[in-house]
Amino acid sequence: MYLPAETHVFEDADFEHWLDVESAYSFNGILANIGPDGAMVASKGVRAGVVVASPSHKNPNYFYQWVRDGAITMRALVDAYASTRNDSLRDILMAYVDDTHHVQRTENPSGAFESGGLGEPKYEVDGTPFMDSWGRPQRDGPALRAITITEFVRVDAELSGKDIKDYKNIYSSIIKPDLEYVSKSWASPGFDLWEEVNGLHFFTALVQHRALSVGGQLALSMGDAGAAEWYRIQEHAISRLLNAFWDEERCHLVETLASSRSGLDAALLLGSIHGGSESLFPTYSEEIVASLDALVKDMRTRHPINVALPENENGLPVAVGIGRYPEDVYSGGDEQSTSDGNDIGNPWFLCTSTVAHTIYDLVNYISSSDEPFVITNVTAGFYLPFLLSIDDLFEDSLIKAAAHKYKDASMVLFSFPKDSKTVDTLLKQLIAYADGFMRIIRAHTDSEGNLSEQFDRNTGYMRGAPRLTWSFESFWNANKSRSEALKAYKNRAK
Ligand code: NOJ
Ligand code: NOJ
Repeated sequence: MYLPAETHVFEDADFEHWLDVESAYSFNGILANIGPDGAMVASKGVRAGVVVASPSHKNPNYFYQWVRDGAITMRALVDAYASTRNDSLRDILMAYVDDTHHVQRTENPSGAFESGGLGEPKYEVDGTPFMDSWGRPQRDGPALRAITITEFVRVDAELSGKDIKDYKNIYSSIIKPDLEYVSKSWASPGFDLWEEVNGLHFFTALVQHRALSVGGQLALSMGDAGAAEWYRIQEHAISRLLNAFWDEERCHLVETLASSRSGLDAALLLGSIHGGSESLFPTYSEEIVASLDALVKDMRTRHPINVALPENENGLPVAVGIGRYPEDVYSGGDEQSTSDGNDIGNPWFLCTSTVAHTIYDLVNYISSSDEPFVITNVTAGFYLPFLLSIDDLFEDSLIKAAAHKYKDASMVLFSFPKDSKTVDTLLKQLIAYADGFMRIIRAHTDSEGNLSEQFDRNTGYMRGAPRLTWSFESFWNANKSRSEALKAYKNRAK
């Protein structure tokens, strides 16, 4: 099943075909979970535009709309709409905008419209509040929603040729309330995206930063200059806070400040994908690369199905199944104790796709960049295993002895001309490595291509919520990033 790395780049027609099929299946899987008439949720009282987390009603019951899952899913549909101009996608997005207006104004256990209610993480599928106790508030939701709707407005204006000011109503009544919430509450603790820990989180802060950045630009084009200035100041303050998440000693980011956990978390990569920017923790930043590497190394020895895989193949690192974070004990549902009887978390499809996605983005960046490719003490742990197989490594490198400082904290160990053979070989190997994570997903899906939340750490069988919308979204999105990376790589070769 796991072919030697070099043979699969661009050449494995069967794998390429599977990616196409699974990507289409995932896209349909997303649509099937959206109200009112997605195939899995039709005639079940789901409001139009509501993303149901999973059709599962019990063990676990995921038949709810989570603000985070909904916004991340709809963000993918905005991309699909941008590239296809498909009217029925536009209808779904408009329904989502309407549903957002509705839930924002639904009084709930976190509060009312102007008193904290926007931080509520989940609602019933008919738009009524969810009244049970829960980890609330979760402050990433309004930020993700503002990012998605801002991007929708931008894309729709472009496709329709309308003036951006024609969307003023959506801006003032839906986007702006979320931006106000974010700008006034980012410094307060809230629950993390996994809904377990109260505190300040990297994922949350980074998506808040992006929301204020893109939302602030929209505010400017709406002529709301005062708000734009206020968002700019808060955005800047959040960027200061974000520096605190780099742990110099451990040489990786930590997801939650002042937490007893290791801090390694797939949320770091998700934060970068959904909230990073060129200047702040992009997927190709040193900090994200080092954190990805540390997370994968942890997961390699954590789960029996990963330990069963060889560590290297032809001297190159092998992909493994990725869970949320090392200390995770959530096995997928109340009665779903793990197959070995322990309370230990399992690998998740969405975390595994997210690692692939991050590496594809990295390939895209290195392929498109005009700068020399640089390896520092921070990223050496990730890159060196790939480079050891490259004979002319030292001939290609510009820097040999005098290591010099790079971006304050790190040291450049190697620097390669961007069109060198070393970089070319490295890129091919990185694509193969990322493909390895997609192959892990292939190994654990069923014959139809379904993706649940988790796959069992001992048996590899799917477990947790079936047909999880977010699993489909993250696979679809990773595959999209793969296409972009391959294109950039091929253009580079020209
Ligand atoms: C359900 C939450 O959604 C999940 O993230 C969490 O790990 C479990 N409950 C256990 O608290
Ligand atoms: C549990 C996950 O931890 C959380 O992030 C997600 O929003 C819900 N499940 C719904 O998918």
